[in-house]
Amino acid sequence: MRTPLVAGNWKMYGSRERNAALIRDLILGLENGAAAEVLVCPPFIFLHEIGRNLGGQKIRLGAQNASAEDEGAFTGEVSAPMLRDVGCSHAIVGHSERRILFREDDRLIARKFVAVQRAGLTPVLCVGESLEEREAGRTASVIDGQLGAVLDVAGVAAFHDAVVAYEPVWAIGTGRTASPDQAQETHAHIRGMIASRDAKIADSIRLLYGGSVKAANATELFAMPDVDGGLVGGASLEAGEFLRIIEAAA
Ligand code: PGA
Repeated sequence: MRTPLVAGNWKMYGSRERNAALIRDLILGLENGAAAEVLVCPPFIFLHEIGRNLGGQKIRLGAQNASAEDEGAFTGEVSAPMLRDVGCSHAIVGHSERRILFREDDRLIARKFVAVQRAGLTPVLCVGESLEEREAGRTASVIDGQLGAVLDVAGVAAFHDAVVAYEPVWAIGTGRTASPDQAQETHAHIRGMIASRDAKIADSIRLLYGGSVKAANATELFAMPDVDGGLVGGASLEAGEFLRIIEAAA
């Protein structure tokens, strides 16, 4: 049995004041427990303070990115050991906004995945195709390339402690969600690809769907056999909506 995981990717939103209210409402809403694990991924600058507010709570803390390097002269970067130091348990790597807007390629993302694990954190590896790639029937081959690059560098054993998020680029922040069948098809493909290297790891790894997840569509997405939760952007910034999504994963 895979325990569902619902992760909130706050992207570059928030302020100390807004975050405090959001975290307070989430803690209150989860007071009686949740059947899903919950993770929030605020911008770097807020991690430390939020980590302190989460002390003793069940909500876990993740970063949205991490450097591939542990330390050194890399102005503007934040390393995985630093993330661990301020209380993170997870870090997202390879989000499509990093791939597209900041030109991160598969090789760099694989190095980040390894660096995150080296620091004792769990990587949340994002993969997903663009609309043009989907329309050209290339979804599976794009996923193969993105996931294969990390499998080749990190090795399948590394996926024992990792999460993969399928986030079709055309569904992120667009209000256009993959249908449950579309999500299931790609999730099954991802699990199959891992299974071809290690069936046990494939069976236990959690695969999250991301891309315009809302309370209104979460139940049917999470009901699919290979969808083990969600990576939620916009809808994670509103406590009530995010709590309903967490409930849908139960
Ligand atoms: P969205 O973002 O839920 O706002 O579409 C998901 C993500 O980018 O992780």
